[in-house]
Amino acid sequence: MALTLLGLLAVVLAISRTTVADPDILTDFITPNTSSVGAYFFTYSGLSAFYNPNPKNFTVIKASMAEFPALNGQSVSYAVLQFPPASVNPPHTHPRSAELLLVMLGTLEVGFVDTKNAIFNKTLQVGDMFVFPKGLVHFQYNRNHNQSAIAISAFGSANAGLFSVPKSVFTTGIDDNVLAMSFKTDVATVQKIEIGLKN
Ligand SMILES: *[C@@H]1O[C@H](CO)[C@@H](O)[C@H](O)[C@H]1NC(C)=O
Ligand SMILES: *[C@@H]1O[C@H](CO)[C@@H](O)[C@H](O)[C@H]1NC(C)=O
Ligand SMILES: *[C@@H]1O[C@H](CO)[C@@H](O)[C@H](O)[C@H]1NC(C)=O
Ligand SMILES: *[C@@H]1O[C@H](CO)[C@@H](O)[C@H](O)[C@H]1NC(C)=O
Repeated sequence: MALTLLGLLAVVLAISRTTVADPDILTDFITPNTSSVGAYFFTYSGLSAFYNPNPKNFTVIKASMAEFPALNGQSVSYAVLQFPPASVNPPHTHPRSAELLLVMLGTLEVGFVDTKNAIFNKTLQVGDMFVFPKGLVHFQYNRNHNQSAIAISAFGSANAGLFSVPKSVFTTGIDDNVLAMSFKTDVATVQKIEIGLKN
């Protein structure tokens, strides 16, 4: 009986693990079709514009499975983050991966919140790395009003996923009364936030 329960627990754990990490593959790599592929298939140049010292907006350039199909099954991806002066990457989570961020230009204030609602924040300089644990809410902020910032982030998933707290909560049609009660405010305030996020 105890063994059966343990066996069941192992199966449940195995199943839940596969839902939060990329699955292992049984081939060297995955190609979209059966024709042979060359080195070009494993090459991606979409991040070559990463060094933009004068970005107009906060910009994310992704190199995940969607942009770079050879990453399918390899459990890795990159993103480049460009921050104009005084810009923010709003609180968000990546459900399927930790994020390892490396600052390439400027300074960045970064932080995350754990499941006990403790905040861990730090101001990073060029060359500093910071790891945002998998699934936890985090943000980055370029407080400097005169200097852009650039960072590169590595992920342990080919498709880390994104859940933006402001957008997921305020732009997806959740009833305004539910939001007003949840945020202990009134519907007018909720609508003001919703309008701001549409622009
Ligand atoms: C096979 O996939 C490669 C890489 O995406 C693509 O360049 C090629 O055109 C595809 N061939 C066919 C027959 O679909
Ligand atoms: C970027 O910022 C400019 C103003 O500086 C704005 O006109 C434009 O719509 C913004 N682009 C995006 C994608 O938000
Ligand atoms: C961390 O956040 C607090 C506010 O919550 C702020 O006062 C402090 O300056 C931040 N520290 C760093 C190093 O960014
Ligand atoms: C940013 O620029 C403003 C105006 O040019 C200046 O007053 C301020 O001292 C600068 N701040 C920093 C941190 O360099």
